[in-house]
Amino acid sequence: TILVLDFGSQTSHLILRRLRALGVFAELLPCTTKIADLTWKPKGIVFSGGPASVYDDGAPHVDPAVFDLGVPILGICYGCQEIAWTIDSANVARGDAREYGHADVTITKVNSNVDRLFAGLGDEIPVFMSHYDKLVSLPTDFVVIGATKNSEYASIAHKEKPIFGVQFHPELEHTPRGTDILRNFSVDICGAQPNWKMGDFAQLEIARIRELVGERALVLGAVSGGVDSTVGAALMREAIGDRFKAILVDTGCMRLNECETVKVNLGKHLGINLTVVEAGELFMSRLAGVSDPEKKRKIIGSTFIDLFEKEAIRIEKEAENTPNSGKVEFFLQGTLYPDVIESLSFRGPSATIKTHHNVGGLPERMMNGQGLRLIEPLRLLFKDEVRAIGRKLGIHESLVNRHPFPGPGIAIRILGDVTKERVEIARKADHIFISKIKEAGLYDKISQAFAGLDTNRSVGVFGDQRVWGYIIILRAVGTKDFMSADVFDFDNAFLKDVSRTICNQVDGVARVVYDLTSKPPGTIELE
Ligand code: XMP
Repeated sequence: TILVLDFGSQTSHLILRRLRALGVFAELLPCTTKIADLTWKPKGIVFSGGPASVYDDGAPHVDPAVFDLGVPILGICYGCQEIAWTIDSANVARGDAREYGHADVTITKVNSNVDRLFAGLGDEIPVFMSHYDKLVSLPTDFVVIGATKNSEYASIAHKEKPIFGVQFHPELEHTPRGTDILRNFSVDICGAQPNWKMGDFAQLEIARIRELVGERALVLGAVSGGVDSTVGAALMREAIGDRFKAILVDTGCMRLNECETVKVNLGKHLGINLTVVEAGELFMSRLAGVSDPEKKRKIIGSTFIDLFEKEAIRIEKEAENTPNSGKVEFFLQGTLYPDVIESLSFRGPSATIKTHHNVGGLPERMMNGQGLRLIEPLRLLFKDEVRAIGRKLGIHESLVNRHPFPGPGIAIRILGDVTKERVEIARKADHIFISKIKEAGLYDKISQAFAGLDTNRSVGVFGDQRVWGYIIILRAVGTKDFMSADVFDFDNAFLKDVSRTICNQVDGVARVVYDLTSKPPGTIELE
């Protein structure tokens, strides 16, 4: 395993992705991690980039013990400056100008040991730079292995030890040979084995879950029909069989036929022990008259917890006097790596992301109130990796590639207060929109699409009748990480067809509009 120490760059996680794509497993930890606290010895360490200036008060720095570990080190951007600054703080200063974008690094040949980071790359490589600070002198015992017009010390290497620094970003696509550089570092210099495979990951994770849960404990997990909870549930099922109890809460705000589909996919195809808790009426009564989005989320979150608490008790009772009797000791959470990065970061957790993923404080109350422990089998994976594991576990392609669906469901796709009638209208419109998208072969080209409902009403004329109906808002976006997103470009003819079909087939709709707002400034969901 390669350890990536995160100094807060927007692209730290890409270093991991590139390494994993090479088959080299890597983990990300905050740059302030104490080496004495590490429970494993990394084969090598990468220092990421970061937004601070190494010479500022309060700038983040590594534990100096990192350099005593004796393993190879690669510093990227801030990470490179950190190496130079640690040796002598005078080595780093603000440059004359920002260097942002394309640059060409001229490689300086020293000898095949010192410049092996660039082995096989020729004399010049195009790279992506993004910095203001730079190295203004060469750290003692280091040599230059690459320079650009603006940065005399754009790449450095220690004369004897395997310590390297690059001012540019090898993890970015815009550094075309970046992967070769990361391969040279991780495989050739660190000696990491490029044999990380998704299938192995699933097996290792199943073994880890078995050990953690032990022989008797029961595990409760909420499933939603989405890819994360389905893959998590499938791993749990493989690991502990029927001692994993999946709960699907029908909030009354699910997509059309969702509960039936989940029953078939999880219950029948994957053999998961699944209980559907019908709670549509309860959710609707608690949501009555509430239009504030955050209040909706909180109400839905705490109703989920009430139901899980009841289910935990019911499940323990039901298991009594069976070979699987035991206490519910764990709760499955489909946390993915981007959430872990957020909460591990030395910058502290990001409030916005937390609210989403905890569905209104879900784990905290469950953990504290019931003494449950969390199981997060996907915590080291990115979404596309979760999808790859899903395929390995035999989950059907249509489920693996499903667009995400938020925990609070259609309730946060209705602008205004939620009623059964409004959910029904939004649900039908959504079904038409998604079906048309699938028929047109566009589903896999779009990251997330749905139809929401504006509770303001608009006047229309249907036949010779005046109607006063709701406005349906169609939304479709493309995104890699769901942090920012572009509006999907449909043909107008397609959108007109969707609009016509919704107006013709869904009573109560007077108008259909397409949302042209990217994220930012809009969010993907309507609220
Ligand atoms: P936004 O709307 O913030 O959404 O651009 C980004 C991604 O997060 C999903 N999302 C949620 N998921 N509970 C969830 O489980 C929520 O409260 C929630 N809000 C947004 C959204 O569907 C998109 O994929």
